[in-house]
Amino acid sequence: MIISPKELYEKCYGNYAIAAVNVFTMEQIHGLFRAGEKANAPFLVQMTPVARNYAHPDMLLAMIEAASKIYHKAKYAIHLDHGTESHAFDAIDSGKYNSVMIDASHDDFQQNVRRTKLVVDKAHKYNVFVEAELGVLSGVEDDISIDEKSAKYTQPNEVEQFVESTNCDSLAVAVGTSHGAYKFSGSQGIQFNILEEIQQRLPNFPIVLHGGSAVNQEDVNRINACGGALSQGASGVSPNEIKKAISHGVCKINIATDTRILWARVNREFFWNTPELFDPIIPGKEYMDAYEQFMLEKFDLLRATGKA
Ligand code: G3H
Ligand code: 13P
Ligand code: NA
Ligand code: ZN
Repeated sequence: MIISPKELYEKCYGNYAIAAVNVFTMEQIHGLFRAGEKANAPFLVQMTPVARNYAHPDMLLAMIEAASKIYHKAKYAIHLDHGTESHAFDAIDSGKYNSVMIDASHDDFQQNVRRTKLVVDKAHKYNVFVEAELGVLSGVEDDISIDEKSAKYTQPNEVEQFVESTNCDSLAVAVGTSHGAYKFSGSQGIQFNILEEIQQRLPNFPIVLHGGSAVNQEDVNRINACGGALSQGASGVSPNEIKKAISHGVCKINIATDTRILWARVNREFFWNTPELFDPIIPGKEYMDAYEQFMLEKFDLLRATGKA
C-alpha cells in the first residue's frame, strides 16, 4: 500500500528511520518489496533521473505497481531522487509518485529557494511530498581547506529561513556524508555538532541523510578476491553513526551504493566460480535473495522492522 512520507516520518521521528532505496532493475524491486513485506517495515522506493533514463520511467513504475500486487502487504512511498524541476513536474503529472526531491543544492541560497518553491507550489496541489536539499554533499573532500569545507556543509543558521520560504516537507542536509563507495576520505565522519544544531532549529522536522550506505568491507574484499579492483579506501557510514543520526531527527536514510556493491559481489563470485555458466537467471536469483537479506538487516539497523 502506498503511504505518504509525511505519515511515515511523523511516526518514526527520533526513534527509527525509513530506508529510501534506489532501484534500477527488476531484481532490486523484488528484493526490496519482498524484504519490506517480510520485515513488516515501511520503506521508500526511489528513482534517480539516471535510473529513469536507464530502464524508462514507465518501466520502473510498472514494475513497482506489479510488486505492490505481488507483495500486497508492503507499505511504501514512491519517490523521485535528485530531480530537477522538469523531472519533478513529470513525476507529479504521472500521478504515481507521492514524493519528489528537488535538488537545487548546487545553486546559491536564493536560487535554491526559488527553484524549490516552484516545485513545492505544484506538488502540494496534488498532495505530493517535497524533499529539498541545502548544503553540498559531494564537495566535501579532503584536499580542500577547512573554510571551504565548512562552507559546503549545511549552514544551520540558514535552515529555518529555507524551510519557511520554500514550505518544503523535509530537508536533506550535508553533514559529512557523500555519495558512492569512498566516503569520509581522511578521518572526518558525520558532523554531529552541525546535525544537532539543525535539529534544534527545526524541531520535529524530518531530516534526510543522503550517502547512507555502509560499504560492507567483507563484500569489498570478496569482490576483489574475484577479479575486482575496488580501492581499499572504500568505506561508508557506521551502524553507530546511523543510530545517532536517527536520534537527531534523521527520518530517511538513502541507500544506493550498497545495493550496487552487493550486485558486483554476487555476480563476480558467480562468474568467477562457474565460468562455464552464462544464464542471467541464476545469479539474478542469487542477487534477489542476497538483496532481501541485506534489506532485512538494514531494516533492523534502522529499527524499522515491525513498524509498517
Ligand atoms: O544519489 C543517488 C545515487 O547514488 C546516484 O545514482 O547513478 O542513479 O544518479 P544515479
Ligand atoms: P549512497 O551512495 O551512500 O548509497 O547514497 C545514496 C543516495 O544518497 C541516493 O540519493
Ligand atoms: Na546534492
Ligand atoms: Zn543522494
